[in-house]
Amino acid sequence: ERYHTAARLFRPGRRVVAFTGAGISVPSGIPDFRSASSGLWNTFDPMEVASLTAFRERPQAFFDWLEPLTGQIFQASPNPAHYALAQLQSSNRLETIITQNIDGLHQKAGASDVIELHGNMNHLVCLTCQKIEKVDDYLDRWLKEHILPVCPRCGAFLKPDIILYEEMLPVDAWEQAEFSCQQADVILVAGTSLEVMPASSLPLEGFQKGAQIVIMNLTPTFLDSVAEVVLPVDVAKGMPELCRQILA
Ligand code: OAD
Ligand code: ZN
Repeated sequence: ERYHTAARLFRPGRRVVAFTGAGISVPSGIPDFRSASSGLWNTFDPMEVASLTAFRERPQAFFDWLEPLTGQIFQASPNPAHYALAQLQSSNRLETIITQNIDGLHQKAGASDVIELHGNMNHLVCLTCQKIEKVDDYLDRWLKEHILPVCPRCGAFLKPDIILYEEMLPVDAWEQAEFSCQQADVILVAGTSLEVMPASSLPLEGFQKGAQIVIMNLTPTFLDSVAEVVLPVDVAKGMPELCRQILA
């Protein structure tokens, strides 16, 4: 069946990259952006709350959007999909995990080589004076007392170190990710709609350079037509099963 067909592509010695998105953290209780009823962008307009303009001009709307998500992220634990990918990595059957997620759950599951295309929630940065602060020093006051994080040096609101709309992707992360996809023999795409550029151009670029594509996602993506195998299953069930068959 399809898991078997997919698993055979992950032979030892082949260069395998995983490309993940919000869907891989849905079983950990963090909502994704574009699922039909539960996606965050059903309730929020991304440009109104998650853009650089929004942060600068409507900080209250920005923090109203981000605060509950931040709470969910810091409460969440890795799920079987994160653990399966970490296991593939420690078994030398997966090199790099490229993620669009900001939740740090791949690393919490024990993954080592993780490229974060959209940043993470570990730090807060001041866009006025460039001060960098640890989020831990602000989290309780922010989430429990709803006191928004402000820069201790200049008083401006601090921006979590995540990539907003209208912002550039971090150059180092981008170049490492592009290199990995260009070298890859297999790219395992999991839990992403592939609707957001430029991130979603990476697996396409890999395919154009000869990588075979395996997709595990509940809903269709634009790369399904060129994929070797499409697994339209829940990652929390499908990823451990795929991993089991690869390591069998
Ligand atoms: P999306 O919400 O666009 O896509 C998540 C995909 O995961 C959807 O196609 C779902 O069908 C699928 N999915 C959900 N739960 C699943 C499950 N349990 N098993 C398998 N598949 C599941 O999220 P991303 O593609 O990550 O950017 O979104 C990309 C970017 O858009 C995000 O990084 C964020 C957002 O705006 C920024 O914030 C810059
Ligand atoms: Zn400052």
